[in-house]
Amino acid sequence: MQGAHRPLMPALAILVAAGRGERMGAARPKAFLELAGQSLLLRSALVFEAVEDVAHLVVVVPGGEEANARSLLSGVSKLRSVVAGGARRQDSVLAGLREAPMGFEDVVLVHDAARPLVDTGLVASVIRSAAAVGAAVPVVPVVDTVKRLRDGRVVETIDRSELGAAQTPQGFRRAVLERAFESAFASGLTVTDESMAVERAGGVVAVVAGSLRNRKITTPEDLVWAAGELAREVARS
Ligand code: CTP
Ligand code: MG
Repeated sequence: MQGAHRPLMPALAILVAAGRGERMGAARPKAFLELAGQSLLLRSALVFEAVEDVAHLVVVVPGGEEANARSLLSGVSKLRSVVAGGARRQDSVLAGLREAPMGFEDVVLVHDAARPLVDTGLVASVIRSAAAVGAAVPVVPVVDTVKRLRDGRVVETIDRSELGAAQTPQGFRRAVLERAFESAFASGLTVTDESMAVERAGGVVAVVAGSLRNRKITTPEDLVWAAGELAREVARS
């Protein structure tokens, strides 16, 4: 039934864009910066808009930017709500999770608006894997040799074959993410991604092949790289 014309698993995607973009050092929050004339936020939203199995989009922005984001996303038909985020990433994700419709038990995706070059195929494979396993995370291999450091000295070298760099979208059956978040918040745990909450709660997280193009835009150099990617794409077509 894969590729059927109606959504089999109507996922809800939470786009988190409530960070301050400190490493970018721009005057505006990062998600509102433009890449080839279109904001990172709109670019990311349009990818999810194009995935058949995504039914709802929830966007989380810095407090005060809601109206701005709504007008930017006025053409996105799956947009359900725009809400203000919180101090930590998990606070922003929780604000988005509260917007899920009553009775919705399917897959919730959490995606960094700062990864505008994600492709629809990756989103679809995360949905499939999360629906099957309960939780799924896209990962790319780590290219550098990674050392554990202490007090300015190398303690050990970590076996690179066992490492992966986590990307988004991360996908979860709603109940899996909610339960993991409940226990993280109850125990005062700060998690750097949603998968970490599930791992700590003892859940199984499947690995999906991520992509190098799905890089997180963090610094001005990343924006330059992304503009180059888009230009190369135009040149190829
Ligand atoms: N994010 C969020 N709420 C927060 C922190 C981060 O919604 N309290 C979002 C960001 O908007 C971004 C994604 O999580 O889309 C990944 O975070 P990151 O790349 O670290 O973005 P920023 O926190 O904005 O950047 P920086 O850490 O450089 O300040
Ligand atoms: Mg950050």
